[in-house]
Amino acid sequence: MSIIDRALVAGIPLVPKPIVGVFSRRYIAGEMLADAVRVVRELNAQGMMATLDVLGEEVSSREEVLAATDLYKQALATIQSESLDCNISVKLTQMGLKFDPDFCREAFREVVREAHRRGNFVRIDMEDSTCTDETLAIYNGLRREFTNVGVALQAYLRRTTADSDALMRNGPANFRLCKGIYVEARRIAYKDHDLVNRNFTFVLEQMLRQGAYVGIATHDEFLVWEGMRLVREHNLSKDQYEFQMLLGVDIELRKIILAAGHRLRIYVPFGEQWYPYSIRRLKENPQVARYVLRSILAPG
Ligand code: FDA
Repeated sequence: MSIIDRALVAGIPLVPKPIVGVFSRRYIAGEMLADAVRVVRELNAQGMMATLDVLGEEVSSREEVLAATDLYKQALATIQSESLDCNISVKLTQMGLKFDPDFCREAFREVVREAHRRGNFVRIDMEDSTCTDETLAIYNGLRREFTNVGVALQAYLRRTTADSDALMRNGPANFRLCKGIYVEARRIAYKDHDLVNRNFTFVLEQMLRQGAYVGIATHDEFLVWEGMRLVREHNLSKDQYEFQMLLGVDIELRKIILAAGHRLRIYVPFGEQWYPYSIRRLKENPQVARYVLRSILAPG
């Protein structure tokens, strides 16, 4: 990222919330479950699968956890009744990880159990590195009981190779592999773009070789190419992996992946708590950050 881009990104948190709202529409389905269902239906009609994310993180009360759990249960019921090709993605800090890990485990277990009852699947999103140990421990505990749960791992973390190995020792695992979005210290995370990419490819190959199911989550065309190469070299069938992208990012790459005959799942966030998610997405994309800041500094 250039110095100018860095300066633009640093300015994003100063932008008034309504303006962030306008620019983040491309990344978010809307505030209501009905908005998300409409988007998922369109994606399904275009040959893509989806995963629903009820926006919200770092909650601090049991009431908030129960509200999120209820919304996820409603989402699972709707996915089933509307026959959507869609699963769900959950952040454990939204289930109370930061204030009561035991309560979190039980609340999340209820969501996984409900998904199991409805023949659906739950992906655990991976949050910042203060959450990694407990997130993996909860995943490991639940996969002894349920087969319909998987976890995201981040290629920028130095520990990920070892985590992936350790998880695979407990039997076939179901991973989403992404680069990682949080700001981490160099001590624990690779900082260099090429090194993160090399580690992504390295970990992906290790996961596939060991028989894991992998959601290859990236918009980086180099990594999409590496994913396609590895799928071919390991002679994988379509039900052993999938590509994943975020809503609103690189529509042309979606078409390229689908045209090459791969399955693709789009991550569809919705809900009232859209602000932190939008800020992360805008920081990833200096081009949008540029539009946002220009519209404030030079309106019209
Ligand atoms: P990179 O950042 O290099 O982007 C490649 C290209 O994609 C860019 O050049 C740009 O053109 C385009 N692009 C990327 N982001 C964009 C944006 N916001 N707007 C417009 N264009 C954009 N992270 C995490 O820590 N925990 C998690 O659980 C998840 N879950 C997750 C699920 C799915 C389905 C995806 C695709 C991603 C995640 N992530 C995540 C986010 C991930 O870690 C990473 O930050 C982003 O995907 C950006 O990395 P890329 O691999 O896309 O490469």
